[in-house]
Amino acid sequence: MSVAARLRAGVASSIRRYLHNTSRCSGAGGASFVHRDTPENNLDTPFDFTPENYKRIEAIIGNYPEGHKAAAVIPVLDLAQRQHGWLPITAMNKVADVLQMPAMRVYEVATFYTMYNRKPVGKYHIQICTTTPCMLRNSDAILEAIEKKLGIHVGETTPDGLFTLAEVECLGACVNAPMVQINDHYYEDLVPKDIENIIDDFKAGKVPNPGPRNGRFSCEPAGGLTCLTDPPRGPGFGVRADL
Ligand code: FES
Repeated sequence: MSVAARLRAGVASSIRRYLHNTSRCSGAGGASFVHRDTPENNLDTPFDFTPENYKRIEAIIGNYPEGHKAAAVIPVLDLAQRQHGWLPITAMNKVADVLQMPAMRVYEVATFYTMYNRKPVGKYHIQICTTTPCMLRNSDAILEAIEKKLGIHVGETTPDGLFTLAEVECLGACVNAPMVQINDHYYEDLVPKDIENIIDDFKAGKVPNPGPRNGRFSCEPAGGLTCLTDPPRGPGFGVRADL
């Protein structure tokens, strides 16, 4: 059923999803904004950066002006997540220590961006964009195909720990909508069959080629150029080589 049809039919769950509560449902690795101790995420959860990553942190901090270590919070949180797989509260506290900033400032950043997972995620983290351009290009069908194929819903992980599904806001690839991000790769211009094949590849231990799935190389017009079809002319073009 289309989004419009579902809204007309007043299907409660559909309407809720489109009233932008997706961050709470699925952002930050499916965690809500509030931290609650769990067996795997509490103040005793071990976390420290590796010696190699401490060197990386020094290099990252060096990208910012003297006295502005806190500006490095986003890349350093990302480094913590890459090391640990997700961000327990002890990792956020360690980032606060290293950058000499209040822990609350780090929590504010980590809970705002859906790129930070405050709960463990599967080996393959599928983030599906359902913001307007992707929705208009039928991201609903892609979401349904993923849910059906994996037997999970947004915010859940498959029992084998392989896949976690999250619903996120615009990932900046609207021109190739609909799209999903899986770990660090974007898969674009999708139809349901594409995402099924992509999931099959990951299940088989392969990493499918990222990018558009409809034959486009990048984000060029699908039906060919509709403007700028003449040879360039005017200032800067056609200047004699001997001048
Ligand atoms: S709306 Fe989906 S990537 Fe921008």
